[in-house]
Parts: sequence; C-alpha cells; structure tokens
Amino acid sequence: MCGIVGYIGEKQVAPLLIQGLKRLEYRGYDSAGLAIAKNGTILIRKEAGKIAELEKLLVDEPAEGTYGIGHTRWATHGPPTTRNAHPHVSEKGDFALVHNGIIENAGALRRLLTERGHVFASETDTEVLVHLIEEIFNGTADGPRAGKLERAVETALSQVEGTYGIAVVSTLDPGKIVVARLGSPLLIGVGEDGETFVASDAAAVIAHTRNVIYLNDGDMATITQDGYTVHRPAQGPVHREISHVDWDLSEVERGGYAHFMLKEIMEQPSTLQETMRGRLLEDEGLVKLGGLTGMDEELRAVQRVLILGCGTSWHSGLIGEYMLEDIARIPTSVEYASEFRYRRPVVEPNTLAIAISQSGETADTLWAMREAKQMGATTLGVVNAVGSTIARETDAGVYLHAGPEIGVASTKAFTSQVEVLAMITVHLGRLRGTLTASRGREIVRALQQLPEQVERILEMEPALRELAEEYKDRSNFLYLGRGYNFPAALEGALKLKEISYIHAEGYPAAEMKHGPIALIDENMPVVVIAPRDGVYDKVRSNIDEVKARGGRIIGVLSEGDEELMKVVDHVISIPRTHDALTPILASVPLQLLAYHIAVLRGCNVDQPRNLAKSVTVE
Ligand code: AGP
Repeated sequence: MCGIVGYIGEKQVAPLLIQGLKRLEYRGYDSAGLAIAKNGTILIRKEAGKIAELEKLLVDEPAEGTYGIGHTRWATHGPPTTRNAHPHVSEKGDFALVHNGIIENAGALRRLLTERGHVFASETDTEVLVHLIEEIFNGTADGPRAGKLERAVETALSQVEGTYGIAVVSTLDPGKIVVARLGSPLLIGVGEDGETFVASDAAAVIAHTRNVIYLNDGDMATITQDGYTVHRPAQGPVHREISHVDWDLSEVERGGYAHFMLKEIMEQPSTLQETMRGRLLEDEGLVKLGGLTGMDEELRAVQRVLILGCGTSWHSGLIGEYMLEDIARIPTSVEYASEFRYRRPVVEPNTLAIAISQSGETADTLWAMREAKQMGATTLGVVNAVGSTIARETDAGVYLHAGPEIGVASTKAFTSQVEVLAMITVHLGRLRGTLTASRGREIVRALQQLPEQVERILEMEPALRELAEEYKDRSNFLYLGRGYNFPAALEGALKLKEISYIHAEGYPAAEMKHGPIALIDENMPVVVIAPRDGVYDKVRSNIDEVKARGGRIIGVLSEGDEELMKVVDHVISIPRTHDALTPILASVPLQLLAYHIAVLRGCNVDQPRNLAKSVTVE
C-alpha cells in the first residue's frame, strides 16, 4: 500500500509534495520519490528509506518546478531499493508515473514491451505501465499515435489487469497531471487560485484545502492550472460532488505523544464518545443509526449475518458474532475476508454481509464484500475512513467517527468497531423483537459509561509500563479468554506480536487442555482475561490448570475480585460492564502493555517492520 501526492499551481512544488508525502508515510515507508516537470524536462528525485532520506537528496540536488507528483512506497514487487522507488520513467524519459496497487499482468506486458526493445530499470510492475503509456502516446504497430496524455493513459489502462491509483506527467503533453483509480484510493484536493492537488487520502491535502473529490473506481481526471475534469472511459466527462473534510490536521499530528499509537490509545475515551454521539436513545433502549435509515423491512427479513474482515477487524467481527447471536438471536458467521473469497462460499438469500475495515481500503475485505454483494447479500460497511472504497460501495454503513488512525497497530478503531457492532446488535434486536426495551436500555447505559471507564483504565498506564519492564524480554506469550473475551485474547496477542515482534498466541481458555497447555512453564507468561461475566467460573478453573503447571499469570480481572487477585501473579483490574462490552475494557490495558513492551524493546511502534496501515494489495 503506498501514498501518492500531486500538485499543480504557482508555488514551488517540491516542498509541497514532501509535506504531503510525510502525511502519508504511514501508508508505506520503505522508499519515496518525486517527479517535477519543468521546461520540457522531468526531474526525478528518489531514495530508499524514509522520506527524510529524500529530503536530504533534495538539499544536494534541488528540483525546481511548479507541478509534479510524489510517492511513498510499501513494496509489493521488488525490494525497497532506490531503483524500485517511484516515480518510474518511460524508455525515452518523457513520461513519469507513480502507482499504488498491483498490475497482475505486468509479466506479460513486460515481455511484450521487451520484445519491442524496451529496457527496464526496475523489478517493479509499475514501470511496465509507464513504458506502455509512452508506446501508446507515440503510436505503435498496434495503434495510432494517441498524442494526448489522457488518451494514452486510458488506452494503456484498458490493457491492464489489477488495481491502481496512478498519477502521470509528461514533457510531451506538459502542464497537466493525469490520474486514474481502480481499487486504490485517490482524491482531488480543490484548492484556490489555480491550485489543485491529488492524493491517496485527505491527510496529504487538508493543510491546503478541505474541499476534496473522492474519485470512484474507473474514474480518471486531468488536472491543469485551469482546474480539473473528471472523466470515465467511453463515457467522457462526469460530475463528482465536492466533499468537505471536517477533521483537523492536529488529529493527524502526534499531538505531543511519543507515538501515534499512544495518542490513539489515550484518545479512546473521546473516540468512544464520538462513535456513540447522537446515536443512543436511552429511555427507549434504542439506537439511531443514520446509515441504516429506510432499511427496516430489509433488516427484519435478514436470516443470516456474514461478517467479513482481516486482522483486528476480524477480531471485532468475532465479538460481533457473539453479540448478534447472544443478544439479537440472529445466526451469524465470521470469515477471514481473504479466505471467504476463494472458497466458493454459499450465500443464502436474505444475508446481511457486514464488511469491517478501519481504512475502508483493505483489498481482501473489499473483494470479499464485492463477492458477497454479487451473490445477493445486502452489504453493510463498518468503516472509519470516510469516503473510502468499502464505505462507498456497500449498500449502507455505519462510520466509526474515530478520526484518522495513523499507528499501524489498530487501537481506537478496534474499540469503536466493537461499539458500533453493539449498536447494530441493539438496532437489529429491537427491530426484530428479539431484544426487549429493558435489555436494550441496559446495553445503552453500559455503552454510555464506557468513556469514563476507559479513562480510569488509562490511569493505570504507569503500572502497565512497570509490567512491561518485567516481561519485555520474554520470547513467547499466551493470551486466553472465553466467550466475548476469546476474541479479546486474540486481539491482545496480535497487538503484542505486531509491534514488539514477540511471538504471542490467543486461545479460547478451555482450549488449553487440548494441546497448548504443553507450552506452559515459568518462562511462558499467560495473560488471562477473566472478568466477572457469564463464563467467569469456567475461566477460573482454566487459571487453576495453568497455575498447577507453574505458569505465570497476568490476570485481567474485574475490580474488587479479591479471590482471583490472590491466585494470579499480576492484576490488571477493569470496571464491571455488560458482558458484550468487556472486550473493550479488557483490550485497552493490553494495548498499553504491548505498546510499552515494544518501546522498551526499541521497536518502531508506529511503523513496525514489514507492515503497512492499510493493505490494499491481496
Ligand atoms: C491491526 O493492528 C493490523 N494493523 C491489521 O491486522 C489490520 O487490522 C488489518 O490489516 C485490517 O485493516 P482494516 O481494518 O483497515 O481493513
């Protein structure tokens, strides 16, 4: 997954592109580059490593010009080297292109172009595209000279299989940036005084404009100093609404915290509040979800819910499954999106497919949702990124309103996802008569207490930092939970492993006796989530099994559980709440534990190795 920026206007473009790329660095950060067009030449500056490396290069080799494109990369084809960094340039050097996505038929196209004498400088799929555009612009055996950049780009893309968000400039058709998107996000930032931007997401442009146009899959656009036109192949110009971005750059900045991840953990009292704002009707024991307005009949007819997601979003989906069956009594199943798509699933009539995705751009989830939709399901997005592809392609949706989540490890999005799933559960249960008003009120009141309860949990940070100090050098962890907190155990394990690189596994607590208990000894820390919920007594006996084998236990317990506090080796106390909401309260201290262990181990917490914030490739 990569980040793209572009600018056309009166100002020197290099500093603007660098600033925009820095706002997108969380999307991919293994190499970066710029292409700046000026007086019939294209200046290319690119470097492996973080964007700071590119900045150093620009000091030594300045690039002046008033329009250009930039790219920050997360490698998919070819290692993260300078040679493979974008922008890529055509054979004769007249075209430069940046790309986010995967060209699946790049091999075949590369062979064809090689036979025609093209020599490639990189191992990337992207470079094939810019060579193809040049061929088509200049005319080849296959066709007449395109002669216009947008026409050459359109024809080239008609030969491409895969996904792309691209921006292209050319010395042969100067003064314009041509962009196109299919499967990777791209927007136009509508500036003033002849300034226009393009970017992968709004974080890169809101310092200059809050007026953006989210391009749809299949859209192309031509940007010049006179403005922009959006067009579609075979259709010509199309109209696209301008949206107003309402979150502030400060929300994107770290806000004084050492890492985005810590900022986002500490933001959870307010993000949980924002997610619920205007959506709870306490007296009636109802919730009001604007995105589901007018769907009552359809939702009453739902026979099964199918939840699709990846990683942390899959974990929140598991909690949603327990909620929907336990509370709303709707048959529900959860699928890894990447598995669902290729296993020839059966989607019965009256299925509601819920696609959960913080970024709204995860390719596995997007394509699984499209598959379910194509098979007749009604699709519902539970998404954070406004205007993202999943949000725009699902039939309906509920936004998290948790603000941009920059840290690669998802934290505030997870707790808000669980909150939204609880609200959807209440909505469906009350609509279908499987949840009484009084039980609905119980859940609504429990939701209303969450922000203050999480505030109290966050006060435990110093104690969790101490606990991290004691366990930071362990090589393995087990996380155990039952019922609603089995997914919370999975999520706690994922947080630890993805930022500290310690091996950690989550298990249903009762599953230990079927094999994993063989791992237990004094070197294996075991985190057990054991709040006073419906399965407390069962988990209690699982704790005894672990203790009997010398395991050291970090217990996530309900406040006041004096009995269990005597049994475990370390206590993390959380307030009492509705069983279905305990995963929210249990996951917050485990986020902090993982964060501090990773910091103590000197890991790059916000940009862990090998990971990117949104995986827009399969
Ligand atoms: C979570 O901490 C990970 N970064 C990852 O598992 C993530 O949840 C997954 O890639 C799904 O992303 P999405 O929610 O944006 O679709």
